[in-house]
Amino acid sequence: MTIRAFLLTIAFWSHGFWHFTEALDFSSRINSNDLQKSFSPKAIAVGHDIQWPRLKPSKFVLTVHSPIATIDYGSETAGYPFFEIESVEAQAQIEVKYSEPYDGLQHVWGDGPYTFSTGLSNVARVETFNVTKAGTVKSSLIQGGQRWQSIKLIAGNKVTISRVGFEPTVSVTDPDTLPARFSSDDTVFNAIWKLGQKAATMACLEKGSQKAVWDIDPVKGAFVHSTRSSPNIETSTFEDYTLEFETSIERGGVWWSIAQSVSYGNGIQLLLVGELPEASTFANTNLSLTPPNSILLADAYGFVNQTTLNSYLLDTFTIPFKVHEKEWYTVTMALSGSNQLAVQLNGISIFNVSLSDYYTGGSEVSLSGSFGFGAYQDQAAWVRNAIVHDSANGSLLYVDSLCDQSALARYGTQSNLGTVCLDGAKRDRLVWMGDFYHTSRIIGASTDRFDWSRGTLSFLLDTQASNGQLNFAPAMGYDPTTTIDAFSTDGTYPGLEDYQILGFLGFYNLVKQTNDLKYAAQTWPQWQKQLTWLLSTINATDGLVDVNSAFLGPGTGGSAVSCLAVEALNGAAEIASALRDKSAARTYNESAKKLADAVNTHLWNDEIGVYSLSRSEKSDFSVAGIGLCITSGVANSTRASQVVSSKNLAKLKLGPGYKDDTTVNEADPSISISPNTNGFLLPALFMGNATTAANDLLRSMWGAMLSEDVKAGVGNDTTSTGASWEYLDVNGSPGLSLFTSLSHPWGGAATYVLTEWAAGLRPISGPEGFGYRNWLLALETGLQIGLKKASARVVTEGGELLSVAWELDGTDLTVEIDAPHGTTGKIQIGSGYKIINGGGVQSVRISR
Ligand SMILES: *[C@@H]1O[C@H](CO)[C@@H](O)[C@H](O)[C@H]1NC(C)=O
Ligand SMILES: *[C@@H]1O[C@H](CO)[C@@H](O)[C@H](O)[C@H]1NC(C)=O
Ligand SMILES: *[C@@H]1O[C@H](CO)[C@@H](O)[C@H](O)[C@H]1NC(C)=O
Ligand SMILES: *[C@@H]1O[C@H](CO)[C@@H](O)[C@H](O)[C@H]1NC(C)=O
Ligand SMILES: *[C@@H]1O[C@H](CO)[C@@H](O)[C@H](O)[C@H]1NC(C)=O
Ligand SMILES: *[C@@H]1O[C@H](CO)[C@@H](O)[C@H](O)[C@H]1NC(C)=O
Ligand SMILES: *[C@@H]1O[C@H](CO)[C@@H](O)[C@H](O)[C@H]1NC(C)=O
Ligand SMILES: *[C@@H]1O[C@H](CO)[C@@H](O)[C@H](O)[C@H]1NC(C)=O
Ligand SMILES: *[C@@H]1O[C@H](CO)[C@@H](O)[C@H](O)[C@H]1NC(C)=O
Ligand SMILES: *[C@@H]1O[C@H](CO)[C@@H](O)[C@H](O)[C@H]1NC(C)=O
Repeated sequence: MTIRAFLLTIAFWSHGFWHFTEALDFSSRINSNDLQKSFSPKAIAVGHDIQWPRLKPSKFVLTVHSPIATIDYGSETAGYPFFEIESVEAQAQIEVKYSEPYDGLQHVWGDGPYTFSTGLSNVARVETFNVTKAGTVKSSLIQGGQRWQSIKLIAGNKVTISRVGFEPTVSVTDPDTLPARFSSDDTVFNAIWKLGQKAATMACLEKGSQKAVWDIDPVKGAFVHSTRSSPNIETSTFEDYTLEFETSIERGGVWWSIAQSVSYGNGIQLLLVGELPEASTFANTNLSLTPPNSILLADAYGFVNQTTLNSYLLDTFTIPFKVHEKEWYTVTMALSGSNQLAVQLNGISIFNVSLSDYYTGGSEVSLSGSFGFGAYQDQAAWVRNAIVHDSANGSLLYVDSLCDQSALARYGTQSNLGTVCLDGAKRDRLVWMGDFYHTSRIIGASTDRFDWSRGTLSFLLDTQASNGQLNFAPAMGYDPTTTIDAFSTDGTYPGLEDYQILGFLGFYNLVKQTNDLKYAAQTWPQWQKQLTWLLSTINATDGLVDVNSAFLGPGTGGSAVSCLAVEALNGAAEIASALRDKSAARTYNESAKKLADAVNTHLWNDEIGVYSLSRSEKSDFSVAGIGLCITSGVANSTRASQVVSSKNLAKLKLGPGYKDDTTVNEADPSISISPNTNGFLLPALFMGNATTAANDLLRSMWGAMLSEDVKAGVGNDTTSTGASWEYLDVNGSPGLSLFTSLSHPWGGAATYVLTEWAAGLRPISGPEGFGYRNWLLALETGLQIGLKKASARVVTEGGELLSVAWELDGTDLTVEIDAPHGTTGKIQIGSGYKIINGGGVQSVRISR
């Protein structure tokens, strides 16, 4: 549908159509009131089993006959769980489970455990409490993301609970009070827009809001409980070593790891289980998994499997004596070159085995890496006096008493030092740099919390290695400035190199939204160093980008990575010219142009009318590749419309969206559909005028994440969290099973795309558009997807608000604008346009 439009009249409004608050000071939006609020239940059920809650939350009683409360918080929550106990008969124990989807409550470990990284949170999604008196019981460990909770009486006769909830560790500001808005006459779109906003709000954290997960005592050392074994950052290159330490179990046992990677949790995992005396052993202790007086030996992440995160429980060794709680034991563990692992307790040999004798998923167990400490679900222990020797010659390598506060920094268990956006609320809780691309755009469209963006970018910049790269997934519990050597090798970070480019674009997005040239100038030398690395990846032969490894597609000569680099270099040229760095602007501009030419020359498949997956995979193509080659401007309008032809899209269409690329085998039952990669395609569909496909994708992919809307035929209340998801399966249910994160901002691109393409409000391209000083309101696509009205509000340079609203009435379109003074806008529809100069409230009528 095309609409030929011309502009009729302009009328100035004397009174505001909307009621706007003053420009807000966003640095102080989280105030102490927020932190006193808590996440409270929306509904509850009490009975013999997990059941769908229908009652309004109130005081409830758990008894032997009616032992389980199922609690619905309505949408994602995060924080320290608390329980106000009104009364308890004798001694009771309650087992509490947490889950994002409702179904997770049916599983023994909830939707956990999460052993991939130390997210400054509880490793387990099941937590048991000893309830002996009235008062508040509070966990000292965060549960980072859940909608659901169950509370089960597992010992004792009766407990009366007057209130439960989460003391929040994220902003609890009512999203409806945030200045950034979107609204339309389509309720499904309105709900979809909120998904990204919610996910970003749950994944972006204030500095210091996630408390240390270990306690330090000057004599007893480090107190560890229910946290994954956290590796020491100073010993990441150790191999073939003998580790000795002292431990005193408070409850259950103690977990330690050796030859562990500092980036992720994989390594050799050991768990010492004490005698499990009745007085301190919870009724739900799993005696088959953790038998008394034993040592478990595992490889990879932990002791149980969690979906795609495999672990190998290699053996369980019996200790020939009782291991008492609250008594000190010396553990000696020797790793030696011939794959031999020996463990002694108080000098008595418990086992001495060859790791080659075990099946560990087809790959050899790595014998190098750090050591760390933790405790399994509901376990707690003290650990001190770690001493490391070289196993071969006995020389002393390392000593750590663990008796002073500095230990927290070494083991990455200190309170978060920066305001950062994580990949997800419940998992992995790492500052994944690639995920930040979508997050940064969502922040601009829906939260205005640019302090989150600056915090995240600064945290990443603090990790810069000598070759210019940044750590692509730092953990928030380590000090980013002191851990560069542990994570990088020879001045280079291993791993996904396209995340460097996505991280730069996160910076570009911030500058584009805010025109914060002060921050840009401050950090520019570091970004230029990163860009120098990027330019060094361009292949001198054909001019395409070659990186060692990439997430969005092939690293060598891949279209997604090369087009992403074009987008970054163009953005760099814009920032350079805004900073009046003319020579840099020229360099980046020319490099972008050359790279775009190389993609058009070497990766264009004229027969299919598409950009090839890579220089060696000519007839395959990907969602990210075609999306980014359009949004980066590599494709001219002829090619853009060819790329998004229905014939090409049909080759990728699968389930609720599009599969990542044409090589993905549709028969594979574990296939995941990614709202992250589909999020790169979505704006490209609008740009390529595949408006119907864009509309369909919005409804099928992001509609699936909503709670049930029977009339619209979308959503499912058992899986909705109010936030965008990490993955979907082909049926539109969450992908990756229970492991998946149902509050993941990388899956929330629809939020900013709705503002930009359904309402139609975006900054114009180039530095002139920074901070919305020059903006565009393009009405065509919103009308094409059937909207009768839409409005959007964004925060511009300096914090002032820009509001637009339009409504179609028959053949008349009324547009209301409230723009900051000094800005210039262009309302465009078809080939007609109207320039809006200056600020204030203005109304425009357009007739066809
Ligand atoms: C619960 O606390 C009571 C009182 O301190 C104690 O006697 C009991 O052993 C504890 N039970 C467990 C399982 O820790
Ligand atoms: C106990 O652990 C085993 C794995 O060893 C697991 O299969 C089982 O489901 C667990 N049971 C409970 C009740 O946690
Ligand atoms: C985890 O899954 C892998 C692959 O199926 C299997 O080999 C391994 O034994 C499992 N580990 C545990 C702890 O169940
Ligand atoms: C473990 O066994 C190996 C091979 O039998 C032996 O060389 C080594 O000394 C033993 N280690 C300990 C600590 O007993
Ligand atoms: C022991 O071996 C390490 C390398 O494994 C070496 O650096 C160190 O110098 C050796 N020490 C002695 C005393 O031989
Ligand atoms: C550079 O491109 C050529 C083909 O154009 C290819 O043969 C070569 O492997 C590429 N170099 C690298 C480092 O990938
Ligand atoms: C890049 O160069 C083109 C001309 O090739 C020019 O139109 C554009 O404004 C330049 N962009 C920047 C950001 O310097
Ligand atoms: C787009 O580029 C192709 C290849 O250079 C060219 O044939 C076509 O005319 C261009 N289209 C436009 C609109 O410039
Ligand atoms: C999409 O349509 C607009 C106006 O209708 C036109 O300016 C633009 O070139 C078209 N884009 C493509 C890729 O066809
Ligand atoms: C909603 O999701 C649940 C769990 O994934 C599934 O069992 C149920 O069939 C779904 N309901 C609908 C209406 O699709």
